[in-house]
Amino acid sequence: MTETETLVGLDVGTTGVKALAVSPDGDVVASAEEHYPLSTPQPGWAEQDPEDWWRASRAALGRLGAGSSPIGLSGQMHGLVCLDERGDVLRPAILWNDQRTTAECAEIEERVGPERLIALTGNRALTGFTAPKLLWLRRHEPDVYARIDRIVLPKDYVRLRLTGEWAIDAADASGTLLFDVANRRWSDEVLAALEIPREWLPPVSESTAIAGAGDQQAAALGVGVVEPGVVSVVLGTSGVVLAALPAYAHDESARVHAFCHALPDTWEAMGVMLSAAGALQWFRDALAPGAGFDDLTAEAAACGPGAEGVTFLPYLQGERTPHADAGATGSFSGLALRHGRGALARAVLEGVAYGLRDSLELLRELGVEPAAGRASGGGARSRLWLEIVASALELPLERCAVDEGSAYGAALLAGVAGGTFSSAQEAVAASVRVRETIEPNAAWAARYADGYARYRALYPAIRRVEEQV
Ligand code: XUL
Repeated sequence: MTETETLVGLDVGTTGVKALAVSPDGDVVASAEEHYPLSTPQPGWAEQDPEDWWRASRAALGRLGAGSSPIGLSGQMHGLVCLDERGDVLRPAILWNDQRTTAECAEIEERVGPERLIALTGNRALTGFTAPKLLWLRRHEPDVYARIDRIVLPKDYVRLRLTGEWAIDAADASGTLLFDVANRRWSDEVLAALEIPREWLPPVSESTAIAGAGDQQAAALGVGVVEPGVVSVVLGTSGVVLAALPAYAHDESARVHAFCHALPDTWEAMGVMLSAAGALQWFRDALAPGAGFDDLTAEAAACGPGAEGVTFLPYLQGERTPHADAGATGSFSGLALRHGRGALARAVLEGVAYGLRDSLELLRELGVEPAAGRASGGGARSRLWLEIVASALELPLERCAVDEGSAYGAALLAGVAGGTFSSAQEAVAASVRVRETIEPNAAWAARYADGYARYRALYPAIRRVEEQV
């Protein structure tokens, strides 16, 4: 195979970048990862230095050695990068999981009108989205705001450094809250209502034309979710259930996101929980430092379904779906002296599974009727976790031959944009193969029906207590 036959996918994630070299028949021939830090200057804030993304991307691509191969980009969605007129970064990027903008979300819904906002963008004002971050800067850092010349999203900052091109795709643009998702273009009405200059926003193309998409859309493409039938189930830092839609549709009160998908004339609806594999990572770092994830899942496996009555709410960084509550908090309940680390670890795995079920139930209300889920993300490497999720969702979960997530979808986009494939569907047909199906465990599913009811009841109860004290 020559160098030009190789497709490269680069995912600019929250914990690091991943670069993949993929052959045209879908095999991964090389990969490289580089990590970078996340800073939390105040509780609930999440920032990164765009220079770190660029340094890591350059290093990973260099180690991959893919030369002049076409590159597709995917990345963490919604993050705000502000550039001055020289193209220099004005301040650290504010990320998708940053929760500082509750007041600005209220301001947006007031300026546009909550129903009109949903009609125009398909979505509610959520703290993680890009538009409220701009309003926050206008209020809290007016000097920075005054110097903004252009904005970009995280992976498009890397594109700018890599190619000099200032651009975005409809899929990632959907998460800004400035985008008319139904018509796949910037919303002049929202921009006017929020007094955000149109000139700050990059030109928009389809993902398949410029080889780029948000990480969730790229992950869905990478497991073959390009039409109804199967949903993408992601156990990454965040947890996602995503369905491809052949026509635009949104939930009436926008409890799930309505975005453009990474191929023309296709949309997607997804529920996003902010802490999925991120919750297990927190658990390890806080309560089992030094333990391996395999050790923790082995302890969880020994505990059995139902986690001996322990329930975990995974709202460690607030939550988006289904509660849209930046102030939501995590918790363990049902603890007793007999419980050890295994019960707690099992409760974390199950709590995340229940959170994914919340998203799936909302998608079902939108008419989504999946026959199976396709799993990806770091957490999907655990067979136990997949069996727990399959049982809680009562849905078979399929693992694909390549489980490299968003970077793989990005490489497929590079193949479509570069002409190796004529369409995203053709890329999927040529590359994506199901390797294994994990069926729901009937006995566990019965336990999880009760566990889910308890899980559902806990959030409103805790909210009530917090409102009273
Ligand atoms: C999607 C979202 C997250 C990030 C994670 O709406 O905010 O999944 O994209 O990287």
